Amino acid sequence: MENIKLASGHEIPILGLGTWQLKGKQCEDITKIAIEMGYTHIDTAWMYENQQEIGNALREIRVDREELFITTKIWHTHLKHDEVLSQFEVCMNDLQMDYVDMLLIHWPSETVPFEETFAAFQAIYDAGKVRSIGISNFSIEQVDKACEVSELPICTNQVEYHVRNNKEDLRKHCQERNIPITAHRPLAVGNLAGDEELSEIGNKHGKTAAQVALRWLVQKGIITIPKSGSEPHLRENLEIFDWQLTAAEMQTLEQ
Ligand SMILES: NC(=O)c1ccc[n+]([C@@H]2O[C@H](COP(=O)([O-])OP(=O)(O)OC[C@H]3O[C@@H](n4cnc5c(N)ncnc54)[C@H](OP(=O)(O)O)[C@@H]3O)[C@@H](O)[C@H]2O)c1
Repeated sequence: MENIKLASGHEIPILGLGTWQLKGKQCEDITKIAIEMGYTHIDTAWMYENQQEIGNALREIRVDREELFITTKIWHTHLKHDEVLSQFEVCMNDLQMDYVDMLLIHWPSETVPFEETFAAFQAIYDAGKVRSIGISNFSIEQVDKACEVSELPICTNQVEYHVRNNKEDLRKHCQERNIPITAHRPLAVGNLAGDEELSEIGNKHGKTAAQVALRWLVQKGIITIPKSGSEPHLRENLEIFDWQLTAAEMQTLEQ
């Protein structure tokens, strides 16, 4: 597994497990299977209503906390200072953790100034409960505004990003600001698994369309968090580090 060095000085594994729509026992089982398989990075959020199950799985499996990279997110209804603090406490209690590795603003607010939310993030950081902070679903203009008002470095912008939704302008802009992109929906919610062009490229490498979609992202230096509730898919998604797309294939997929 490759890591990316963040502006906070911490490292994030370039591939993680997405957990949106994983709930209840399935979420608990899949979290354990994924960790046993070698995943160390888990992406969750208050809104996913699965943090308790993730916390239970991680406690039962007795994995060393320092080996893990856990991201959670504050929902857009709770971006005022005290609301952030109270929702974050719920996250910590559910996860049964005393810190998270990454805390994100899940969606930008049109009503609460970024300053107010980042002041709460700073308080959480000062209390030692978060190591890196970031944003999600922010446009170029919103990235600039966030960088202007946050005293802590913005360590990622998590946005929808895949071969059929290539936000190259946003990626370049973030890169200039030392903000790596985290690609959510990297498989277009599963649709790319049936993509003919990706399948054709994959056949040349003995890989699937989904693996080509994920390899394209990591080869561009983009962190990604595919979700799967299936053990074979979890394994498939992890097997993208022992081969490469050619420069010509990368170029074709840029179009
Ligand atoms: N920040 C945000 O606003 C935001 C928004 C959306 C998502 N996210 C995060 O990003 C994560 C990923 O996005 P997503 O879950 O929406 O979509 P996704 O990862 O693009 O796609 C998930 C779908 O792909 C299928 N799949 C996974 N691996 C596969 C494979 N190797 N072959 C074929 N199908 C495969 C899964 O089915 P199986 O379960 O059957 O494998 C599932 O239906 C989320 O879980 C969440 O953590 C964040």
